[in-house]
Amino acid sequence: MAQTKDKKENLMEKIVSLCKRRGFIFPGSEIYGGLSGTWDYGPVGALFKKNIKDLWWRDTVQLRDDVVGVDAAIMMNPKAWEASGHTEAFSDPLVECKICHERFRADKEMEIKNHEKTHNKTIEWTKSKKFNLLVKAYLGVLEGEESQIYLRGEITNGVSVNFKNIINSTRVKIPFGVAQIGKAFRNEITPGNFTFRSREFEQMEVQFYIKPEEKEGKKWFDYWKKNRMDWYLSLGIKKENLRFRDHALNERAHYARMATDIEYKSPWGWQEFMGIHHRGDWDLKRHQQFSGEDMSFSDPQTGEKYLLWDIETSAGVDRSILFLLIDAYREEGGRVYLKLHPALSPYKAAVFPLLANKPELVKLARKIYDDLRPQFMTAWDDRGNIGKRYYSQDELGTPFCVTVDFDSLEDKKVTVRDRDTMKQERISILKLAEYLKNKLNEDENKILKL
Ligand code: GAP
Repeated sequence: MAQTKDKKENLMEKIVSLCKRRGFIFPGSEIYGGLSGTWDYGPVGALFKKNIKDLWWRDTVQLRDDVVGVDAAIMMNPKAWEASGHTEAFSDPLVECKICHERFRADKEMEIKNHEKTHNKTIEWTKSKKFNLLVKAYLGVLEGEESQIYLRGEITNGVSVNFKNIINSTRVKIPFGVAQIGKAFRNEITPGNFTFRSREFEQMEVQFYIKPEEKEGKKWFDYWKKNRMDWYLSLGIKKENLRFRDHALNERAHYARMATDIEYKSPWGWQEFMGIHHRGDWDLKRHQQFSGEDMSFSDPQTGEKYLLWDIETSAGVDRSILFLLIDAYREEGGRVYLKLHPALSPYKAAVFPLLANKPELVKLARKIYDDLRPQFMTAWDDRGNIGKRYYSQDELGTPFCVTVDFDSLEDKKVTVRDRDTMKQERISILKLAEYLKNKLNEDENKILKL
């Protein structure tokens, strides 16, 4: 048992170390001692992040007739946060250890227990009080109540306040969805577990507007639960590591009539990956009350006017990256590799000249590299020996490595090595791009089939 625990903790240490060493994720503002709960994506991490967001957008907006996308401002009129209920109810229960004054979330039993162990005696805690998670900022040249705003605590509000603009500027028919990807900020009491709970993070959300009927609500809630689960499975996450968990009444956010999480079996237990929420007409009704604007939808068939209900799916980009990395991490036969879905891999291929000091090999390899680059993200490596270059690309999850050797000068073929099987094939240089694209598409098509 203790061994398994050590193994799991070890796994997280290895992932955090790999992320820093290979340019996936760095601690935020590190040279100044860091800033708790913030992380910076490095050269490889930025590619990974872009890939997951692009893929999500393609499958959620580009390939659907019933979803449009928006990109709203992070800073909003503070009244929007009063209306959405966040200034009043967007809080976590906070307790303070009376010995060392460290603060914790009262609802996180494990964290409380672990802290008690560090003092080795019974701890007295302060009474639990509500701690609002909205991050305050000041806008304009004067600091004070007048200029105080909030950084958005969830990205949803930018969609809700634009509801009228969206229906007036498009030809959406119910049911329809509005998708958005963007940063959110929360004054988390205890950020931790690497990027899992951060104070600045990114979300990918759909607000799916439906007729306000119980049967419709149930139908679309179940539809989106399945759709999102299938999407993560199609990215190659192991089935046994994902599950649904319904929220109990006392856990639900202030806006939710129903809520289910997709959870991931992380090294520190089952954890929330993303949420599906039935928000009813909470947001539109409240914005209607607070702004005085009519937020209802006119049914073109019946002429009836009503407030639509919202079935929301909300996923964390950073959590997706973290769990995909954990799930893809492999140590086998003395090598470490990331078995990432090729659509997510930061680089799709890497090109090597067998020897860096042979100009004829470098010239041909460089030409191949330049031909591939416009088609997909390609890496170049001419350092060390081939084994080290394979090892290096394996750690980044690059699905294919292409080596130009002396035979290539004669037979106009290169060696293509597969990351997962380590099998090598000789492929004609003229057919290389097509070969790689077909291989990459085989996997991409699995996602398209959803
Ligand atoms: N609009 C609904 C909403 O924001 P949520 O359950 O509070 O719902 C949705 O957040 C998702 O955002 C979570 O499932 C998680 O993936 C991500 N998320 C929330 N808080 C986070 C944090 N502090 N750090 C990283 N990701 C977070």
